[in-house]
Amino acid sequence: MDMLVVEGRRPLRGTVGVSGSKNAALPILAATLALDGPTILDGVPDLVDVHTLTDLLTSLGATVQRLSESRWQVQVVDEAACLADYELVRRMRAGVCVLGPLLARRGRACVSLPGGCNIGHRPIDLHLKGLRALGARISIERGYVFAEADRLIGADVDLTGPNGSTVTGTANVMVAACFAHGVTTLRGAACEPEIVDLGRFLNAAGAQIRGLGTSVLTIDGVDQLHGTTHRIIPDRIEAATLLIAAAITGGELTLTNVQHDHLTAVIDALRQIGVTVDPCGPTGLQVAARGPLQATEIIAQPYPGVPTDVQAQFTALLSLAAGSSVVTDRVFPDRFLHIPELCRMGATIRREPGRGVITGVSRLSGACVMASDLRASAALLLAALAADGDSVIRRIYHLDRGYERLENKLNAVGAAIRRVTDTPENMPASLRMLGSLPLTTEEEPSPIPPPKFLSRTEDEAARRAVP
Ligand code: EPZ
Repeated sequence: MDMLVVEGRRPLRGTVGVSGSKNAALPILAATLALDGPTILDGVPDLVDVHTLTDLLTSLGATVQRLSESRWQVQVVDEAACLADYELVRRMRAGVCVLGPLLARRGRACVSLPGGCNIGHRPIDLHLKGLRALGARISIERGYVFAEADRLIGADVDLTGPNGSTVTGTANVMVAACFAHGVTTLRGAACEPEIVDLGRFLNAAGAQIRGLGTSVLTIDGVDQLHGTTHRIIPDRIEAATLLIAAAITGGELTLTNVQHDHLTAVIDALRQIGVTVDPCGPTGLQVAARGPLQATEIIAQPYPGVPTDVQAQFTALLSLAAGSSVVTDRVFPDRFLHIPELCRMGATIRREPGRGVITGVSRLSGACVMASDLRASAALLLAALAADGDSVIRRIYHLDRGYERLENKLNAVGAAIRRVTDTPENMPASLRMLGSLPLTTEEEPSPIPPPKFLSRTEDEAARRAVP
């Protein structure tokens, strides 16, 4: 298992490129199971989750070829299988995105219920509600969803959940509706750019989807979708993470391969905090933190609001903003496992139901911390970049699921991050030593100074001084 050793207080300066979107690539890769013929995808990020999903596609009868760094070709060659195995789906919740394509294309699917998650309750009841509305027969047995449909029929269905829309639920039902007989109206649909990108991909393959980017989608069913070529949109969450990395280190970065309109709420929030963010050409952004950070309130909510996937990173940034800030997460109210770890670095954050209340501090101190999920690990890395001294971040396999060699990108603009095996000897001396210091539970009595020999004159003066 690896860990990151981070040397803090190094302002980032330079230019960094944003990779393709994980949360667009995953549902689009899953949707290739419903297409007839080869599909070429460009801008696919090199992530653990992408490799897990391509393994799942292979297990379901697709050939998957990596044509270059970020170009993949996928083609279904055998439609006999319909089992999405627990061993693959437990590693990545997005594995559930094969449910809709399998049901639509093969008439049956057996998909493992996604495993637990450190960011909170993540049911799939809305996915199943939508598929049932299209005529699927669904049962849940032994940790698997069993779904069957002789013929899907268009329907009018609302996917609104208690915390707003469902992103992967919209993906699953949208793909299935493409093959439903008649017209489907999908209300309460997710408006996230990743869903728009999936819809555009499906339309390029012959689907008839209208209303993309709004909460009401109208889908005319078709008999077949053909292979196509598609470029994945830039990853707005990685872009936001890099913007905050510049801000928290007091640096200045230029980001390339950015879609400005995907980041409006994030840019507004950074400006509220006192960070300068300006467009730099049609697909670039310049960010600089010149003055002190200002406390503010951040509310993570469905698009176009501040994404829940950037909530932890904002919490880290606001830990260093003078005054009191509040970060609320309306999508995943329990997504605050990063708070105790940030507090180990000297942050002052009080956990309340659905939110964190932050009292800004002037400095963070390097520490050994533990990542708990993908975006929490990013937040801890950002805090470590700003902290005094060395930090160690353990369980960084979480980070590798969703960021493409993030430490390499940050080191190229001035960070000092080393990826090492998680062993005691690789712990920096500044942190290892802390483990061996004798903990004094009380002030050690200061040692009595040894008697010194007075000169004759000093001696006589001392005698006269005694009353
Ligand atoms: C997607 O997860 C993203 N993952 C998440 O990104 C992201 O945090 C989330 O959307 C919200 O934007 C991918 O796209 C692969 P949801 P998803 O269904 O689809 C409730 C990351 O860090 N809900 O939109 O699983 C749910 O409990 C990951 O990249 C139901 O009640 O999230 C939550 O409160 C983490 N019933 C809310 O809806 C359901 O059937 C949003 O969940 C489904 C969801």
